Amino acid sequence: MKDKKKLIIRITWAIIILFSSYYFFRAINYRFVKEGLGPTFWNKQFWFVSHIATAVIPLITGPFQFWTWFRKHYIKWHRSLGKVYIIGCLLGGFSAIYLGITQPYPGSVVPTLILASLWLFMTSAAWITIKRKNVQAHRLFMIRSYTLTLAFVFLRILSDLVYKHNFLSFIKNEEVKDATYEWMSWVVPVLVVEFFISWLPSLKKAKSSTASR
Ligand code: HEM
Repeated sequence: MKDKKKLIIRITWAIIILFSSYYFFRAINYRFVKEGLGPTFWNKQFWFVSHIATAVIPLITGPFQFWTWFRKHYIKWHRSLGKVYIIGCLLGGFSAIYLGITQPYPGSVVPTLILASLWLFMTSAAWITIKRKNVQAHRLFMIRSYTLTLAFVFLRILSDLVYKHNFLSFIKNEEVKDATYEWMSWVVPVLVVEFFISWLPSLKKAKSSTASR
């Protein structure tokens, strides 16, 4: 049973790393080769380059931070990489706010801004809780922060499903369709994760405390 769980966890991480790498290289190709970075330094070359260079850091360091073996054997590295993770999220999040406001898709502005703000909040909360030595709260905020980091991947998976596999084909208006999957890319993962790390444990707790009465 324990081995089966270990195997499932390893496969899940392998999938996350594969998808993150694939969509990162595709997004780089899209932005640098197909679309371009914009005509001038401030519009928006600086913002794209700084966003990509900083937001990729949590994508790379995230898996190391959750790896129990790594954490146990290299606690100093876990602490240093943790700081790097936080700086990447904060800088990536601030540049995402600018890119979010100025992007050419009106239906994506609000979901992008809320996503970026939540990313900044969850990451800061992970930092504050570990500074206060609250390991359990730190673990939960890191899970939330990394889930939001992965919104980068979920958004592109959904985009492929929409444009290559007829997902949401019942929505005829293209802008409504784009806004819908933009919202879905982080609302659905956040709800699923909250179900497992918060709602389900609360349900179980209520049951066990009644049983022990
Ligand atoms: C989770 C919060 C994030 C938000 C709110 C966000 C937001 C944005 C926005 C608004 C754009 C510009 C879209 C456009 O104008 O066409 C963008 C582009 C980009 N972002 Fe992020 N981002 C986030 C996380 C990440 C992460 C974790 C990565 C990982 C590397 C990343 C990589 C990129 C890349 C490569 C681009 C350029 C390609 C493109 O325009 O699609 N972002 N992001």
